[in-house]
Amino acid sequence: MAAQLPFVVRALRLEADDVMSVELAPEDGRAVPAWTPGAHVDLVVGDGTTRQYSLCGDPGATVLRIAVLREQAGRGGSAWVHDRLRPGDRVRLGGPRNHFALEPAPEYLFVAGGIGITPLLPMLAQARARGVAWRLHYFGRARQRMAFLGELAPYGGRVRVHPSPEGSAPPLDGLVDGLPPGGLVYACGPQRLLDGLRAAMAAAGREDRLRTEHFAAPAGADQGERGAFTVRLERSGIEVRVPAGRSALDVLTEAGAEILSDCHEGICGSCETRVLSGAVDHRDHVLTPQERAAGDCMMPCVSRAAGDRLVLDL
Ligand code: FES
Repeated sequence: MAAQLPFVVRALRLEADDVMSVELAPEDGRAVPAWTPGAHVDLVVGDGTTRQYSLCGDPGATVLRIAVLREQAGRGGSAWVHDRLRPGDRVRLGGPRNHFALEPAPEYLFVAGGIGITPLLPMLAQARARGVAWRLHYFGRARQRMAFLGELAPYGGRVRVHPSPEGSAPPLDGLVDGLPPGGLVYACGPQRLLDGLRAAMAAAGREDRLRTEHFAAPAGADQGERGAFTVRLERSGIEVRVPAGRSALDVLTEAGAEILSDCHEGICGSCETRVLSGAVDHRDHVLTPQERAAGDCMMPCVSRAAGDRLVLDL
């Protein structure tokens, strides 16, 4: 389980309508944990549950910065940040973790939808530092709802801002035209945008060049057989049977294992657990194909054993 450490809220700033940035400094003079663009942290919110937020500041800074969209239909975590959190408050953070890191490429196309700009923001600086060409297309419902436009302004013509009213399809035609072989597309935003982009790239035969971070599990995900299997928790010496139709996370938590969790849909990465042996039937949307192939970690909220038995580092 990732450790949760104490931080102090240094500053809160309204970056756009319903988008608040939060700067967090480690308590007790600890150094800021090292992180790379694309990483996120787990913020423990008012009711003790966690939420994942991408780091959107400078990896060299002495504070961590996140930005939180107030979700009108959310579970209350974002409203707690907006309405309750104040400078000087103490919070606990897990992570940072990164399943959306910038792979080397000769050119990047970044595509952001709304608050999906957050993981991409530090990637732009990283791409520039690498001397690699890049472009950003930033979609949102209206300019006043789109955070960090001021920070993007110095990038000039590399950034295209597309305010598009709710309900209208984002103009994705031709977006990937001109991307050289080996170029990569990094996208984060609402599922509709990611689905449209995936379809456009599939039509161009370039779906393998797309890297995404999800806000929600894609429709139709996790539809496979959910058979029973046995899990051994190596450090605790416990062995449990996960019945068909139940998640390993639920069964292991009931058995006393301490595993962070949030989304229960395989998209946030909170429940990442080390696998010591056994083949995994990966059903998450976090791990890259390479990480899946390595077989040394899994998201037990959705993933299962490919065989009859797994041994976990718990
Ligand atoms: S709880 Fe989010 S990936 Fe498992």
